Amino acid sequence: MQSASINFDRFNQLQDNACHERIRAARASLGPRVVMLCHHYQRADVYQYADLTGDSLRLARLASQTDSEYIVFCGVHFMAEVADIMSSPRQKVILPDLAAGCSMADMANLAKVERCWRELNEVLNADEVITPVTYINSAADLKAFCGDHGGIVCTSSNAATIAGWAFGQRQKILFFPDQHLGRWTGHTLGIPLDEMMVWDPDLEMGGLTPEQIRKAKLLLWKGHCSVHQMFQPAHILKFRNQHPDGLVISHPECSFEVCRQSDFVGSTEHIVKVIKEARPGTRWLVGTELNLVTRLAEEVKAEGKIVQFMSPTVCMCSTMQRIDPQHLAWTLENLAAGHTVNQISVPEHEAVLAKLALERMLAIS
Ligand code: 13P
Ligand code: SF4
Repeated sequence: MQSASINFDRFNQLQDNACHERIRAARASLGPRVVMLCHHYQRADVYQYADLTGDSLRLARLASQTDSEYIVFCGVHFMAEVADIMSSPRQKVILPDLAAGCSMADMANLAKVERCWRELNEVLNADEVITPVTYINSAADLKAFCGDHGGIVCTSSNAATIAGWAFGQRQKILFFPDQHLGRWTGHTLGIPLDEMMVWDPDLEMGGLTPEQIRKAKLLLWKGHCSVHQMFQPAHILKFRNQHPDGLVISHPECSFEVCRQSDFVGSTEHIVKVIKEARPGTRWLVGTELNLVTRLAEEVKAEGKIVQFMSPTVCMCSTMQRIDPQHLAWTLENLAAGHTVNQISVPEHEAVLAKLALERMLAIS
Protein backbone atom coordinates (compact mmCIF):
# COMPACT_ATOMS: atom_id res chain seq x y z
CA MET A 1 0.00 0.00 0.00
CA GLN A 2 1.27 3.50 -0.90
CA SER A 3 2.17 5.55 2.23
CA ALA A 4 0.90 9.13 2.64
CA SER A 5 3.15 12.02 1.63
CA ILE A 6 5.27 13.62 4.33
CA ASN A 7 3.62 16.71 5.84
CA PHE A 8 5.48 20.01 5.59
CA ASP A 9 4.76 20.87 9.26
CA ARG A 10 7.57 18.54 10.27
CA PHE A 11 10.06 20.60 8.23
CA ASN A 12 8.85 24.08 9.10
CA GLN A 13 10.68 24.19 12.42
CA LEU A 14 13.77 22.34 11.21
CA GLN A 15 17.12 24.13 11.63
CA ASP A 16 18.98 24.91 8.39
CA ASN A 17 21.81 22.49 9.23
CA ALA A 18 19.40 19.62 9.64
CA CYS A 19 17.74 20.57 6.33
CA HIS A 20 21.06 20.52 4.51
CA GLU A 21 21.83 17.01 5.76
CA ARG A 22 18.42 15.81 4.63
CA ILE A 23 18.70 17.54 1.25
CA ARG A 24 22.03 15.84 0.60
CA ALA A 25 20.69 12.44 1.68
CA ALA A 26 17.54 12.69 -0.44
CA ARG A 27 19.50 13.86 -3.50
CA ALA A 28 21.93 10.98 -3.10
CA SER A 29 19.07 8.52 -2.99
CA LEU A 30 17.36 10.09 -6.05
CA GLY A 31 20.58 10.29 -8.06
CA PRO A 32 20.09 11.24 -11.74
CA ARG A 33 16.30 10.91 -11.37
CA VAL A 34 16.29 14.54 -10.23
CA VAL A 35 17.79 17.68 -11.75
CA MET A 36 17.73 21.05 -10.02
CA LEU A 37 17.28 24.17 -12.14
CA CYS A 38 17.94 27.45 -10.28
CA HIS A 39 17.36 31.04 -11.27
CA HIS A 40 20.10 33.57 -10.48
CA TYR A 41 17.93 35.23 -7.80
CA GLN A 42 17.79 32.15 -5.61
CA ARG A 43 19.21 32.52 -2.12
CA ALA A 44 22.72 31.17 -1.56
CA ASP A 45 21.60 28.31 0.71
CA VAL A 46 19.45 26.93 -2.14
CA TYR A 47 21.55 28.02 -5.14
CA GLN A 48 24.45 25.88 -3.88
CA TYR A 49 22.47 22.78 -4.92
CA ALA A 50 21.86 23.90 -8.51
CA ASP A 51 22.74 21.50 -11.30
CA LEU A 52 21.89 24.12 -13.91
CA THR A 53 21.48 27.88 -13.57
CA GLY A 54 20.46 30.73 -15.84
CA ASP A 55 18.12 33.55 -16.75
CA SER A 56 14.59 32.79 -17.91
CA LEU A 57 15.61 32.11 -21.51
CA ARG A 58 18.43 29.76 -20.62
CA LEU A 59 16.28 27.92 -18.07
CA ALA A 60 13.50 27.49 -20.65
CA ARG A 61 15.98 25.93 -23.08
CA LEU A 62 17.57 23.76 -20.38
CA ALA A 63 14.18 22.45 -19.32
CA SER A 64 13.65 21.14 -22.84
CA GLN A 65 17.06 19.44 -22.83
CA THR A 66 17.16 17.52 -19.53
CA ASP A 67 15.85 13.99 -19.28
CA SER A 68 15.57 13.51 -15.51
CA GLU A 69 12.27 12.22 -14.20
CA TYR A 70 11.93 15.19 -11.79
CA ILE A 71 12.84 18.79 -12.57
CA VAL A 72 12.96 20.58 -9.22
CA PHE A 73 12.60 24.20 -10.20
CA CYS A 74 14.05 26.74 -7.79
CA GLY A 75 12.54 29.91 -9.16
CA VAL A 76 9.00 31.22 -9.47
CA HIS A 77 5.72 29.79 -10.70
CA PHE A 78 5.78 31.05 -14.31
CA MET A 79 9.28 29.58 -14.78
CA ALA A 80 8.12 26.19 -13.53
CA GLU A 81 5.14 26.38 -15.91
CA VAL A 82 7.53 27.02 -18.81
CA ALA A 83 9.64 24.05 -17.70
CA ASP A 84 6.52 21.86 -17.67
CA ILE A 85 5.47 23.02 -21.13
CA MET A 86 8.96 22.54 -22.60
CA SER A 87 9.83 19.22 -20.95
CA SER A 88 8.58 15.80 -22.03
CA PRO A 89 5.24 14.41 -20.75
CA ARG A 90 7.03 11.73 -18.69
CA GLN A 91 8.93 14.38 -16.70
CA LYS A 92 7.47 16.06 -13.63
CA VAL A 93 8.21 19.66 -12.72
CA ILE A 94 8.21 20.49 -9.03
CA LEU A 95 8.09 23.96 -7.43
CA PRO A 96 9.23 23.51 -3.80
CA ASP A 97 6.88 26.25 -2.52
CA LEU A 98 3.69 26.85 -4.50
CA ALA A 99 3.50 30.38 -3.07
CA ALA A 100 6.60 31.38 -5.05
CA GLY A 101 4.84 33.54 -7.63
CA CYS A 102 5.85 36.74 -9.42
CA SER A 103 3.99 39.92 -8.49
CA MET A 104 4.60 41.38 -11.94
CA ALA A 105 3.18 38.30 -13.67
CA ASP A 106 0.06 38.73 -11.53
CA MET A 107 -0.49 42.24 -12.93
CA ALA A 108 -2.00 40.75 -16.09
CA ASN A 109 -4.56 38.00 -16.34
CA LEU A 110 -6.51 36.39 -19.15
CA ALA A 111 -9.80 38.16 -18.42
CA LYS A 112 -8.11 41.56 -18.56
CA VAL A 113 -6.09 40.78 -21.67
CA GLU A 114 -9.18 39.46 -23.46
CA ARG A 115 -11.09 42.57 -22.49
CA CYS A 116 -8.22 44.71 -23.75
CA TRP A 117 -8.27 42.81 -27.07
CA ARG A 118 -12.04 43.32 -27.39
CA GLU A 119 -11.70 47.03 -26.69
CA LEU A 120 -8.86 47.38 -29.17
CA ASN A 121 -11.08 45.65 -31.72
CA GLU A 122 -13.60 48.47 -31.32
CA VAL A 123 -10.98 50.89 -32.69
CA LEU A 124 -9.03 48.73 -35.13
CA ASN A 125 -8.89 45.18 -36.34
CA ALA A 126 -6.62 43.86 -33.61
CA ASP A 127 -6.01 40.44 -35.16
CA GLU A 128 -4.77 42.06 -38.35
CA VAL A 129 -2.74 44.98 -37.02
CA ILE A 130 -1.49 44.01 -33.53
CA THR A 131 0.94 41.26 -32.49
CA PRO A 132 0.50 40.35 -28.82
CA VAL A 133 3.85 39.85 -27.11
CA THR A 134 3.98 38.52 -23.58
CA TYR A 135 7.02 38.76 -21.37
CA ILE A 136 7.87 35.27 -20.11
CA ASN A 137 6.95 36.61 -16.64
CA SER A 138 3.29 35.76 -17.20
CA ALA A 139 0.89 32.91 -16.60
CA ALA A 140 0.67 30.06 -19.12
CA ASP A 141 -2.82 31.10 -20.28
CA LEU A 142 -1.41 34.45 -21.44
CA LYS A 143 1.28 32.67 -23.40
CA ALA A 144 -1.53 30.55 -24.86
CA PHE A 145 -3.41 33.75 -25.78
CA CYS A 146 -0.35 34.88 -27.72
CA GLY A 147 0.02 31.48 -29.37
CA ASP A 148 -3.63 31.69 -30.43
CA HIS A 149 -3.41 35.25 -31.81
CA GLY A 150 -0.23 35.00 -33.90
CA GLY A 151 1.81 36.34 -31.00
CA ILE A 152 4.92 35.34 -29.18
CA VAL A 153 6.79 35.20 -25.85
CA CYS A 154 9.93 37.20 -25.09
CA THR A 155 12.43 37.33 -22.26
CA SER A 156 14.67 40.13 -21.04
CA SER A 157 17.50 38.77 -23.17
CA ASN A 158 15.73 38.60 -26.53
CA ALA A 159 13.02 41.28 -26.33
CA ALA A 160 14.44 43.46 -29.12
CA THR A 161 14.78 40.51 -31.54
CA ILE A 162 11.28 39.33 -30.69
CA ALA A 163 9.78 42.81 -31.07
CA GLY A 164 11.52 43.09 -34.46
CA TRP A 165 9.88 39.81 -35.48
CA ALA A 166 6.50 40.99 -34.12
CA PHE A 167 6.66 44.22 -36.15
CA GLY A 168 7.49 42.10 -39.19
CA GLN A 169 4.12 40.36 -38.72
CA ARG A 170 1.87 43.36 -37.97
CA GLN A 171 2.11 47.14 -37.53
CA LYS A 172 1.68 47.33 -33.77
CA ILE A 173 2.54 45.42 -30.60
CA LEU A 174 0.52 44.92 -27.44
CA PHE A 175 3.20 44.20 -24.84
CA PHE A 176 2.35 42.77 -21.40
CA PRO A 177 2.79 42.76 -18.46
CA ASP A 178 5.98 44.83 -17.97
CA GLN A 179 5.74 48.37 -19.29
CA HIS A 180 9.42 49.03 -18.52
CA LEU A 181 10.84 46.15 -20.53
CA GLY A 182 8.42 47.09 -23.31
CA ARG A 183 9.42 50.74 -23.29
CA TRP A 184 13.13 50.03 -23.19
CA THR A 185 12.75 47.55 -26.04
CA GLY A 186 10.79 50.05 -28.11
CA HIS A 187 13.44 52.68 -27.43
CA THR A 188 16.25 50.38 -28.59
CA LEU A 189 14.28 49.85 -31.81
CA GLY A 190 14.03 53.62 -32.32
CA ILE A 191 10.35 54.07 -31.49
CA PRO A 192 9.69 57.58 -30.10
CA LEU A 193 8.24 57.73 -26.59
CA ASP A 194 5.07 59.43 -27.82
CA GLU A 195 4.32 56.38 -29.98
CA MET A 196 4.40 54.13 -26.91
CA MET A 197 1.16 54.40 -24.92
CA VAL A 198 0.48 52.88 -21.52
CA TRP A 199 -2.60 50.66 -21.42
CA ASP A 200 -4.15 50.77 -17.95
CA PRO A 201 -6.16 47.53 -17.64
CA ASP A 202 -8.29 49.00 -14.86
CA LEU A 203 -9.63 51.79 -17.05
CA GLU A 204 -12.09 51.62 -19.90
CA MET A 205 -10.20 51.50 -23.23
CA GLY A 206 -7.02 51.34 -21.18
CA GLY A 207 -7.51 55.04 -20.39
CA LEU A 208 -6.66 55.90 -24.02
CA THR A 209 -8.55 57.77 -26.74
CA PRO A 210 -9.15 56.10 -30.13
CA GLU A 211 -6.62 58.57 -31.64
CA GLN A 212 -3.96 57.55 -29.13
CA ILE A 213 -4.60 53.87 -29.87
CA ARG A 214 -4.35 54.47 -33.63
CA LYS A 215 -1.14 56.48 -33.21
CA ALA A 216 0.58 53.97 -30.87
CA LYS A 217 3.19 51.62 -32.33
CA LEU A 218 3.59 49.96 -28.97
CA LEU A 219 0.86 49.54 -26.36
CA LEU A 220 2.48 48.97 -22.97
CA TRP A 221 0.52 47.16 -20.28
CA LYS A 222 0.63 49.04 -16.98
CA GLY A 223 2.65 46.49 -15.01
CA HIS A 224 6.02 46.61 -13.29
CA CYS A 225 8.37 44.72 -11.02
CA SER A 226 8.24 45.93 -7.43
CA VAL A 227 11.89 44.95 -6.89
CA HIS A 228 13.31 46.81 -9.90
CA GLN A 229 11.22 49.92 -9.37
CA MET A 230 13.27 50.59 -6.24
CA PHE A 231 16.31 51.56 -8.32
CA GLN A 232 16.44 55.29 -9.05
CA PRO A 233 18.44 57.62 -11.33
CA ALA A 234 19.59 59.40 -8.13
CA HIS A 235 21.44 56.21 -7.10
CA ILE A 236 23.34 56.26 -10.39
CA LEU A 237 24.14 59.96 -10.08
CA LYS A 238 25.55 59.51 -6.59
CA PHE A 239 27.69 56.56 -7.75
CA ARG A 240 29.02 58.46 -10.75
CA ASN A 241 29.92 61.46 -8.57
CA GLN A 242 31.81 59.21 -6.16
CA HIS A 243 33.36 56.94 -8.79
CA PRO A 244 33.69 58.69 -12.17
CA ASP A 245 35.37 55.59 -13.66
CA GLY A 246 32.70 53.22 -12.37
CA LEU A 247 30.32 51.36 -14.66
CA VAL A 248 26.58 50.88 -14.31
CA ILE A 249 24.60 47.83 -15.44
CA SER A 250 20.86 47.35 -15.03
CA HIS A 251 18.11 44.88 -15.75
CA PRO A 252 15.55 46.14 -18.31
CA GLU A 253 12.76 45.80 -15.72
CA CYS A 254 14.21 49.01 -14.21
CA SER A 255 12.58 52.32 -15.15
CA PHE A 256 13.37 53.95 -18.49
CA GLU A 257 15.50 56.64 -16.81
CA VAL A 258 17.58 54.07 -14.92
CA CYS A 259 18.14 52.08 -18.13
CA ARG A 260 18.97 55.24 -20.08
CA GLN A 261 21.57 56.28 -17.53
CA SER A 262 23.18 52.83 -17.36
CA ASP A 263 26.23 51.83 -19.41
CA PHE A 264 24.79 48.36 -20.02
CA VAL A 265 21.27 46.93 -19.86
CA GLY A 266 20.50 43.23 -19.98
CA SER A 267 19.12 40.04 -18.49
CA THR A 268 20.46 38.46 -15.32
CA GLU A 269 22.64 36.11 -17.40
CA HIS A 270 23.97 39.11 -19.35
CA ILE A 271 24.76 41.01 -16.15
CA VAL A 272 26.73 38.04 -14.80
CA LYS A 273 28.59 37.59 -18.10
CA VAL A 274 29.50 41.26 -18.58
CA ILE A 275 30.91 41.61 -15.07
CA LYS A 276 32.76 38.27 -15.15
CA GLU A 277 34.36 39.23 -18.47
CA ALA A 278 35.21 42.80 -17.38
CA ARG A 279 38.75 43.99 -16.80
CA PRO A 280 40.20 43.26 -13.34
CA GLY A 281 39.97 46.21 -10.99
CA THR A 282 36.72 47.61 -12.45
CA ARG A 283 33.95 48.93 -10.22
CA TRP A 284 30.28 48.21 -10.92
CA LEU A 285 26.91 49.47 -9.80
CA VAL A 286 24.25 46.83 -10.46
CA GLY A 287 20.48 47.35 -10.72
CA THR A 288 19.00 43.96 -10.11
CA GLU A 289 18.03 41.62 -7.26
CA LEU A 290 20.26 41.44 -4.20
CA ASN A 291 21.01 37.70 -4.08
CA LEU A 292 22.51 37.81 -7.56
CA VAL A 293 24.53 40.96 -6.80
CA THR A 294 25.90 39.61 -3.51
CA ARG A 295 26.95 36.31 -5.11
CA LEU A 296 28.56 38.04 -8.07
CA ALA A 297 30.43 40.50 -5.83
CA GLU A 298 31.91 37.54 -3.96
CA GLU A 299 32.82 35.63 -7.13
CA VAL A 300 34.76 38.48 -8.77
CA LYS A 301 36.34 39.93 -5.63
CA ALA A 302 39.60 38.01 -6.16
CA GLU A 303 40.10 39.83 -9.49
CA GLY A 304 39.92 43.15 -7.69
CA LYS A 305 36.47 43.92 -9.13
CA ILE A 306 34.10 45.79 -6.87
CA VAL A 307 30.40 45.13 -7.35
CA GLN A 308 27.87 47.37 -5.58
CA PHE A 309 24.13 47.05 -5.24
CA MET A 310 22.26 50.01 -6.74
CA SER A 311 19.80 50.75 -3.95
CA PRO A 312 20.64 51.80 -0.38
CA THR A 313 17.68 49.69 0.78
CA VAL A 314 17.40 45.90 0.55
CA CYS A 315 15.55 44.82 -2.63
CA MET A 316 15.05 41.08 -2.66
CA CYS A 317 12.48 39.22 -4.66
CA SER A 318 10.41 38.01 -1.71
CA THR A 319 8.73 35.31 -3.77
CA MET A 320 12.00 33.84 -5.08
CA GLN A 321 13.11 33.88 -1.45
CA ARG A 322 10.29 31.51 -0.50
CA ILE A 323 12.24 28.55 -1.82
CA ASP A 324 14.25 27.80 1.30
CA PRO A 325 16.16 24.78 2.65
CA GLN A 326 13.04 23.67 4.57
CA HIS A 327 10.88 23.47 1.43
CA LEU A 328 13.69 21.91 -0.55
CA ALA A 329 14.31 19.20 2.06
CA TRP A 330 10.58 18.48 2.28
CA THR A 331 10.23 18.28 -1.51
CA LEU A 332 13.23 16.02 -2.08
CA GLU A 333 12.37 13.66 0.79
CA ASN A 334 8.88 13.23 -0.60
CA LEU A 335 10.23 12.52 -4.09
CA ALA A 336 12.72 10.04 -2.67
CA ALA A 337 9.85 8.33 -0.82
CA GLY A 338 7.83 8.09 -4.03
CA HIS A 339 5.45 10.99 -3.38
CA THR A 340 5.17 13.67 -6.03
CA VAL A 341 4.43 16.93 -4.22
CA ASN A 342 3.94 20.46 -5.61
CA GLN A 343 3.84 19.33 -9.21
CA ILE A 344 3.27 22.12 -11.73
CA SER A 345 1.10 20.85 -14.50
CA VAL A 346 -0.22 23.21 -17.18
CA PRO A 347 -3.56 21.99 -18.61
CA GLU A 348 -3.12 20.41 -22.04
CA HIS A 349 -5.27 22.92 -23.97
CA GLU A 350 -3.21 25.84 -22.59
CA ALA A 351 0.11 24.05 -22.89
CA VAL A 352 -0.31 23.39 -26.63
CA LEU A 353 -0.92 27.04 -27.49
CA ALA A 354 1.62 28.36 -24.99
CA LYS A 355 4.22 26.03 -26.47
CA LEU A 356 3.50 27.46 -29.91
CA ALA A 357 4.33 30.97 -28.64
CA LEU A 358 7.41 29.71 -26.78
CA GLU A 359 8.69 27.75 -29.74
CA ARG A 360 8.28 30.79 -32.00
CA MET A 361 10.50 32.61 -29.51
CA LEU A 362 13.12 29.88 -29.28
CA ALA A 363 13.29 29.56 -33.05
CA ILE A 364 14.25 33.21 -33.56
CA SER A 365 16.34 33.98 -30.49
P1 13P B 1 15.88 37.13 -16.35
O1 13P B 1 15.22 36.42 -17.47
O2 13P B 1 16.76 38.26 -16.81
O3 13P B 1 16.61 36.20 -15.44
O4 13P B 1 14.77 37.89 -15.51
C1 13P B 1 13.80 37.22 -14.79
C2 13P B 1 13.21 38.09 -13.79
O5 13P B 1 12.17 37.81 -13.25
C3 13P B 1 13.89 39.33 -13.47
O6 13P B 1 13.18 39.99 -12.47
FE1 SF4 C 1 8.86 38.85 -10.68
FE2 SF4 C 1 10.25 41.05 -10.05
FE3 SF4 C 1 10.64 38.79 -8.69
FE4 SF4 C 1 11.47 39.01 -11.22
S1 SF4 C 1 12.22 40.16 -9.44
S2 SF4 C 1 10.40 37.25 -10.33
S3 SF4 C 1 9.83 40.26 -12.08
S4 SF4 C 1 8.73 40.01 -8.76
